[in-house]
Amino acid sequence: MSLPMKFRQAPEALFPPGMLLLLLVPLFFLMTGCGDDDDNPVAPADDLRTTFDLQILGAIPYPANNPPLQERIALGKLLFYDPILGGEKDVSCATCHHPDFAFADRRALAIGVSGAGLGPQRIQTDSDRIGMVPRNSPTVLNTAFNGDEQGMPSHDGFMFLDGRMKSLEMQASGPLGSRVEMAGDAWSGEVALDSVVARLMANEEYVDRFRAAFPDEAAEVDAGSRESVIDSSSYSRAMASFERELVTRNSPYDRYVMGDDDALSDLQQDGLELFFTKARCAECHSGPMFSDFRFIVQGTPQEGPGKDVIPGDDTGREEATRDGADRYAFRTLTLRNVELTPPYMHDGVFETLDEVVRFYNDGCLPRHPDVTNAMMDSVLVEPLGLTDDEIFAVVEFMNALTDAGTALDAFLLDVPERVPSGLIPVIGLGDPGSGKMVSLD
Ligand code: HEC
Ligand code: HEC
Repeated sequence: MSLPMKFRQAPEALFPPGMLLLLLVPLFFLMTGCGDDDDNPVAPADDLRTTFDLQILGAIPYPANNPPLQERIALGKLLFYDPILGGEKDVSCATCHHPDFAFADRRALAIGVSGAGLGPQRIQTDSDRIGMVPRNSPTVLNTAFNGDEQGMPSHDGFMFLDGRMKSLEMQASGPLGSRVEMAGDAWSGEVALDSVVARLMANEEYVDRFRAAFPDEAAEVDAGSRESVIDSSSYSRAMASFERELVTRNSPYDRYVMGDDDALSDLQQDGLELFFTKARCAECHSGPMFSDFRFIVQGTPQEGPGKDVIPGDDTGREEATRDGADRYAFRTLTLRNVELTPPYMHDGVFETLDEVVRFYNDGCLPRHPDVTNAMMDSVLVEPLGLTDDEIFAVVEFMNALTDAGTALDAFLLDVPERVPSGLIPVIGLGDPGSGKMVSLD
C-alpha cells in the first residue's frame, strides 16, 4: 500500500503572515518617525484587522503523546470511514461527518444505526427500534482548535454541545457506545470500545497498519512487554490524528486578514464591522474559531426527542454536569464553514443563517418556553435593531468564513475506495442495494 503524499499544511501554520504583518506595520511607522505620534495612529482607524484584532488559526496544537505521523493519520482515516466500528456494521463516523457535507450531515438531527442513505436523503428504516440522535451533527473540520476553559485553542478542547468530553482522543470512543449513533443492539454501551478493539485485532491489515503507525508500541510487543499494539489508546490516538489534520484556513476572511484587501467584498466588510459592534456577535463568537467555547443560555427552541435530564427535552450543559445552574446552556459554536452546515443550533431548529440572525435580532425570540430572561445571557435579551440590509450583511460576512479545504491535500478530503474490513466504506451493510459509492447530490 502506498502511503499518502505529504500533508500540505500551509507554511503560515507555523508563523501566520497576519502575525508578521502586525509586527511589521508598527516597525514601518517607527522607522518613518511617526510611530508614537498621537495624531497619526499606527494603523488607520478604519483598518478592520487592527480595530477588531482579527485572528487566524495558528499552528495545530498537538498533544505530546500524539504527534502527526503519516502512517497514523492514514490509519485514522481508514478507521473514520470503516463501518467495522459500528455495532451492526452499518454506520461509520463518516455517516454523520461526510466530506460532501463539510464533515457534518446537513440534517437537523442525525440518523445512526438502522438508517439508509446519506445526508439530507438519509431515512430511518426501523424507527420503531432505534430513533434519531437527539442532536445536530457538528462539523469535524477545525475541531483541532476547539477551545479549553480559557477559550484558547487546545489539544484538550471541549467536545460536544454540552462539553461532556475534552480532546479528540477522548471523543473518539464516545459514539461507539451510543445505541442510536453506532452501537445499535449488537453490544451494550460499556463493552463497545472493547468490542471494537477486538474486531480490529482480528483483522490482519489493521494489525499491520497499527504496527506501522505506533512503532514504539510495536517494539514493546516484540520485546514481550506488551500484548497488542491495538488498544483503546492507540485506537483513539489514530482516529484523533486524522481528525486533527482537517484544518481549513483558506477562507476569504483568512485571506483578508493575511493581507489580501480584495478577499472580502464591501458588503462583507460592512457585515464584519456589524458582527463586532451593533450585532454583538463577537461577544461570544470571538477568536480564531469565532467561538469563546463558553456555555451560554440563549433559549434556543427545543426540537426533537431531547435527552435524559428532562425526558423529551435537551438541557444542554446540565446533561454533562448534572448541575441545575447549567440548564439549557450550550457551547458557543464555531462559525467557520457555517454556510456549509445547515440547519443550525444544537437541534437544527433554524434552516438558514438569515433565520439565525433574525432570532438574535429579536432578543432571541421565539424562545424555549422554560427559559426566562433571568436565565438568559444578558447580552442576548435586548433586541439588536438591525435593519434588513444589516442582517443581510452579517449573513454575507458569515459566508466569508467558508473554506471546505481548498488548501488541503486531497488525501484528507476524499472517501477511501476501500477499508480494511472489506465493508462498503461509510455505509457498510446499511445500504447494500446502492452500490459501492452512494450518489450524493
Ligand atoms: C449517527 C451520527 C454520528 C456518528 C455515527 C458519529 N457522530 Fe460525531 N457527532 C454526532 C453528533 C450528533 C454530535 C454532537 C453530539 C452532542 O453534542 O452530544 C457529534 C459530535 C462529534 C464531535 C465533536 C465536535 C465538536 O465540535 O463538539 C466529533 C469530533 C465527532 N463527533 C467525531 C466523530 C467520530 C470520530 C465518530 C466515529 C467514531 C463519530 N463522530 C460518529 C453525530 C455522529
Ligand atoms: C451570548 C453569546 C452569543 C452571542 C452574543 C451570539 N451567539 Fe451565536 N451562538 C451562541 C451559542 C451558545 C450557540 C449554540 C446554541 C445552541 O446550539 O442552542 C450559538 C449558535 C450560533 C449559530 C449556529 C451555528 C451552528 O453551527 O449551528 C450561528 C450561525 C450563530 N450563533 C451566529 C451568531 C450571530 C450572527 C450572532 C450575532 C448576531 C451571534 N451568534 C451572537 C452564543 C452566542
